[in-house]
This record gives sequence, structure tokens and C-alpha cells, in this order.
Amino acid sequence: MSDTAIDTGTGHGRPRPTHHARLTEVGPGTPMGGALRRYWQPIASSAALTSDVPHRTRILGEDLIVFRDGQGRPGVVFERCAHRGSSLYYGRIEEDGIRCCYHGWKFDVQGHCVEQACEAGGGLRRHLARQPWYPVEERYGLVFVYMGPPERKPALPRWDCLEHLQEGETYHSTWPIPGSEVTGAVGDFNWLQAYENAVDPVHAAWLHSAHSGYQFEGVGTTGFPESYFDHRTIADRLTYARTDYGVKYVQAYQDDADQEPVDLEWRVEVQLPNVIALPDFVNVIPDAPHDMLIWVVPVDDTHHRAFFSARASDPGRVARLALGIKQNGKFPWELSPEESRRFPGDFEAQRSQGDITQHSEETLAPSDRGVVMLRRMLRTMVDDVESGRDPLGVHAAGEEIRRVESGVFTAARTEAATAGA
Ligand code: FES
Ligand SMILES: [Fe+2]
Repeated sequence: MSDTAIDTGTGHGRPRPTHHARLTEVGPGTPMGGALRRYWQPIASSAALTSDVPHRTRILGEDLIVFRDGQGRPGVVFERCAHRGSSLYYGRIEEDGIRCCYHGWKFDVQGHCVEQACEAGGGLRRHLARQPWYPVEERYGLVFVYMGPPERKPALPRWDCLEHLQEGETYHSTWPIPGSEVTGAVGDFNWLQAYENAVDPVHAAWLHSAHSGYQFEGVGTTGFPESYFDHRTIADRLTYARTDYGVKYVQAYQDDADQEPVDLEWRVEVQLPNVIALPDFVNVIPDAPHDMLIWVVPVDDTHHRAFFSARASDPGRVARLALGIKQNGKFPWELSPEESRRFPGDFEAQRSQGDITQHSEETLAPSDRGVVMLRRMLRTMVDDVESGRDPLGVHAAGEEIRRVESGVFTAARTEAATAGA
């Protein structure tokens, strides 16, 4: 033993790290899994879900098949065939359902067994077989699924930003990324790490600018001015608030591209349980109506899928937005390991937090305000469901169209919005 001062803060003897299971784990029977099952979740892009082949996916820890029958009806059923368990991924789509490859049992979009090919008379007792299924609805260019208790099925919400298409507009919901067209873009880490990122604007002032160089397409031209990212002032330019359905932040900045500096506010709202209303950061158009939502859907405890719906008359704008963050001027799949280390982006930052981040090892700071507010609301959501109450944002039919508080606003519009609030 030396007689110098004893070191403090070393890694020795740390307790085993843990994560907040109530916030992150989503399988059947878990608290968060039970809460998320009270909401409709996107499961496929309508346009990409054609009637040629079934698609395999996993949502909330359940292995599912999503398909569209020959009459155009979307369906979601368990992957394992109710007969003897072959995967319906290898099934065939027919006019009135999906037929298993092994012995030819056919199920409709509600799991009814409509034929047993190898049984006499097409299966005189086929009504005893039922493929587990979930209800679906199509809206905004997406297929939504409800995996919760049938007696508590809520109405699929409507959001003002996606209602009432204008002349020439259509819904866009298909990622321009190979393999992600039908069932969304997969990330191989816990859903909450991706969702929390949406209420962590501070990371743009470091990761996407100071650390790795400006990564948003359009910075300084069609997008944000460089001053938007200033990390020395970011703490003073941000405010956070609760909304009717979630949390929002407002980031003040000045655009001085023209002669006169213009005071602007960039507002982002997230709505429970997993919706993000992120405005266009590639083509920043002040006071334009908001027009897009993103969903972060848990696949299982260590994966998630991102879905989006955008209304637009220019599909090119949606594509630019969907691929609007570059690292060293490249798409993620073009980066060498060395480049991803020198120019990290969202994936590197969030994936490296772990399969599920270690919450017991975190040290939260004032700039984590949005994250803290969101976690608090999610805890309340889980508590509500466990106590038999309806969680925030789950409503019966007849609910009004939801207002989404996102966009880029000039000072005049900000005053008007505040006065009207
Ligand atoms: S396992 Fe599907 S029909 Fe037999
Ligand atoms: Fe980011």
C-alpha cells in the first residue's frame, strides 16, 4: 500500500449496471409491452405492401406476417401456422387469404381457416382452427395494427398535419432504403434510445455539427444557418414544455442569410407513446404547415423499426428528407469503419449506448430536460395501464383531430400562436 491519497471514482467495485425495464422491455406481459399494446402501431407501408408475397416482421416481441390478400385487404397473423407450425413467410397469397406451404391450410385476414387442402371436403372441421391475428386499419399511407385487449380497442387517431390532402399531394411512407420498403427501417438497439433522441436537440449542436462537421443536408443554404448549431448558446436557446399528448421543445435561432436577421423558432413535438413530429430540416420553410410524422416501433427489447408518413406533392423532397443526414458527405452504408469513427452520426451515438442503455450508469444534466420529461410521461403511461386507467392519447371513437405543435415559425407567427394558446 502506498501512503499517497487514495484514488476516487475508479471503476473498481462498481455495482452491476442495470436498465429501466419498465421503460424499455416490450414483450407480452411486460409493463411497457402492455402499455404500448393499447395504441395502434404502424406495421407496413401501404404502397409497398402488394399482394405478391407475405412479409415477415416482429413487433413488440411477436413474430408476425403482414400481407395483402388478392382482394386488397391487409392482414396481420402469427408467423407460425396454427396447424403444425410452419412459417407463413413461405405461404402463398390468394384471393381470400394466405395459404401455408406445408399442407395447404388457408387463412383469411382474420385468421379463419377457410380451407384445409389435404383434408376430405376441404376440412369439415376447419372452423376449429384459427390462426391468431390482429386487427388492422389503413390510413395516411400506412397499415396500422392493434395488438392490445380487443375490448379496449381505441379509435385510430387522426392528426391535423396529415389530414386533408391538397391538390397534387399524396402520402409517402416508403423508405428509399433497400430492404426497408415494406416493414420499415430497422435499428439494432432499444427503441427508447431512438425515441429519446427526438427530445434531445442538444445533440445536433454537438454531434451533427461541432464534432463531425455539418451533417444535415442544406445547412447554410436551404436548411439551417450554421448559427443554429452553436453549442455555446444552445442551453439558453431551448425551452421545453408539456403538450396535450406529449412533450415539445422550442429552439430559438436567427437566420441572417438575407440582409435582415430573422428571429425563428424550431419546434418539435413528440406524442405518446412513440410518435415524433419532426419538421423538414433539409428545406426549412418558415410558417409552412407541418406535414410529417415518424413512429419508432419496438421490434423487441433490442431492435426497433422507424416508420413515417409525409404528405407531399414532390416525392423528391421526401426522399431528400429521409436521407437528409450525411456523414463526411456519404450515406451510412458508404462509410468505411474508419470514417464512421471519425465522422460519427446518430447511429454511432445511439447504437453505442448498448443493446439497451445502462440507465444506472447515466449522469443526467440540465440539457437532458426533454429526455427526463419524456421518461416521466412514459412512466405515467405504464402506471395508468397497470392501474386500469386509459393512458394518455388512447381515445374512443369521436375524438377530435389532434393538433401537432411542430414547425419553424417566425416571430410574428410565434406571437399569434402564443396568443391563441
Ligand atoms: S403446418 Fe401449415 S398447413 Fe400444416
Ligand atoms: Fe440526430
